[in-house]
Parts: sequence; C-alpha cells; structure tokens
Amino acid sequence: MTKTYAVIGDPIDNSLSPNIHNAAFKKLGLDCTYIAYRVPKGELAAGVESLKKIKISGFNVTIPHKVAMIKFLDTVDENCSIIGATNTVSNDEGKLRGYNTDMEGFLDPIKKRNLPIKDSKVLLIGAGGAARAITAGFAKEKARKITIANRTLQNANALAQFAHKIGIDANAVTLDQVGETASDYNFIVNATSIGMKGEPSPISTKTINEKSVVYDIVSKPINTDLIQQSKKNGATIIYGYEMLLGQAALAFKIWHGIEAPYETMKKSILGMF
Ligand SMILES: NC(=O)c1ccc[n+]([C@@H]2O[C@H](COP(=O)([O-])OP(=O)(O)OC[C@H]3O[C@@H](n4cnc5c(N)ncnc54)[C@H](OP(=O)(O)O)[C@@H]3O)[C@@H](O)[C@H]2O)c1
Repeated sequence: MTKTYAVIGDPIDNSLSPNIHNAAFKKLGLDCTYIAYRVPKGELAAGVESLKKIKISGFNVTIPHKVAMIKFLDTVDENCSIIGATNTVSNDEGKLRGYNTDMEGFLDPIKKRNLPIKDSKVLLIGAGGAARAITAGFAKEKARKITIANRTLQNANALAQFAHKIGIDANAVTLDQVGETASDYNFIVNATSIGMKGEPSPISTKTINEKSVVYDIVSKPINTDLIQQSKKNGATIIYGYEMLLGQAALAFKIWHGIEAPYETMKKSILGMF
C-alpha cells in the first residue's frame, strides 16, 4: 500500500517539502507520496486526528505548530525536548514520535564546508522558533558567544536566557544596536523572515568581509539582499535552501531508514526557483 507523508502548517501553499520528498521517492522507486496539508492555528487537534485516521506514515510540522505539536506526541527525542519544538513526526501504528531535525539541518552545510564553530562569535538575527533551534546548534558545537539581535528586545532576552540555560554565553540587542559591528563576528545568521519579500538586509553589511560567514535561512528567494551585499564583500555564503535540504534529508532517514538522495533533492528545489 502506498505510504503517505505530509507537511502541516499555515500558510503551506509555498512549501518546497512536497517537491523535495516526492523527487526522492521517484529516484529510489519508493511507493510513497508526500502532500502539503493546510492546518490553521487553533485547528491542530482536529488536523492531527485526521492524519491519524488516514494512517499517515509521517509528517513535517511548520509555522505555527512546531511548539503546539509537542503535546500530541507519545515520545520525543532529545533535540525535541531541548528545543521545545518538533518539525518531524513519525506514526508508529498510532504512536506519534517527535523529532527535531532543524538544528542538525542548520549545522549540516556548516559542517560540509568544514567551518569551525568551536570558540566562534555569532551574530544571530531573530529570536523565533528557528533562532531557538539554531541557538541550540551553536551551543552543542561550543561556540563562544551569541549576540541575539531582534526587532522585539523582549523576545531576544528570552532567547538569551534559553542560551544561558543550555550553556552558551549570550546577550540581547535590538536590530538598531547592531550598527556596524558585523566584522566582530565569525558567523552572521539571519533567522528572521526579512528578505522573503525582497526587503533590504536587516543589518548594515558595511563591515562584512572575506572572514565573515553569512548564513541566511530564508530559502526563497535564494539571493536575499543580505546575501547579495555579503557576496560583494567577499564573505563565505550559506543559503537557506541548504538548511531546508539538511532537515529534509534527516527526516527522510528517520522515516525510511536509508540515506536520502541529497543531490536529487537539491536539484528538485533548485529547479523551483
Ligand atoms: N531554511 C529553512 O530550512 C528554514 C527553517 C525554519 C525557518 N525558516 C525561515 O526562517 C524564518 C523565521 O522562521 P521562524 O519559524 O523562526 O518564525 P517565527 O517563530 O515566527 O519568528 C519570526 C522572527 O522574525 C522576526 N520578524 C518577522 N517579521 C519581521 C519584520 N518585519 N521586521 C523585523 N523582524 C521580523 C521576528 O521578530 P519579533 O520577535 O520582533 O516578532 C522573529 O524574530 C522564516 O522566514 C522561515 O521561513 C527557514
């Protein structure tokens, strides 16, 4: 019988996950299909119930359900419980098992480039769910310090407290307070949604240079303003679609127990832009 997988969230119509996973199924000849399923905020309980009814084999979880989904799970893995959010669920005969592949998915392109994280200084722009998984990733890899810059200082402060709790030094600032300090950092990461609609970079790129690593987790468009400016300044660039692929490849391995066909998945999303 064909196995069905899904991504749930709202909005969901622009999700690249169905293309990535369906391309992998086709490449490996797996009798599986992957759909995008819109589940509005407040309707998660009914959404999960309907997924169980159709005997879904597994699903990804995106905005706005990553935290709320936790209470519907029977088990959670270690990353899930550290981060307090899930993005990958498997259905083991009615038992829902939660995982979080965002953290390792974020780290994957950094590791592929052999960029050292230990003792590095990080400027993390944003303090939402993705920024939380990223903070956990930098803590795990023993970065020295994270400066969290966010529109709402209160949210940056809350994330800095989480960072301290999991053992990494952190401070919180507003976006304006970043000024021209970008060159003080080894990694500059955009984890806000700024750039999705072609907005200008959330921080000044003036002092970004060839020693900077600039990672923009916005995956569409590929070349955000932050990326374009940083490229001109000679920085090492990591694209948002690489995190998307990293987390998808890990989810694939959890569900199917085999390595994901990474290059096939990559081609499937690059063909979408
Ligand atoms: N590439 C990937 O695999 C991947 C994975 C996860 C997420 N993402 C992307 O990462 C982004 C954030 O996702 P999330 O789950 O962390 O969302 P979230 O929890 O809703 O957090 C949104 C973040 O963006 C900031 N923000 C939103 N609009 C802003 C604006 N107009 N000006 C300044 N700051 C603004 C928010 O600041 P406030 O605290 O002030 O509201 C907050 O820090 C999204 O674009 C998402 O698509 C990519």
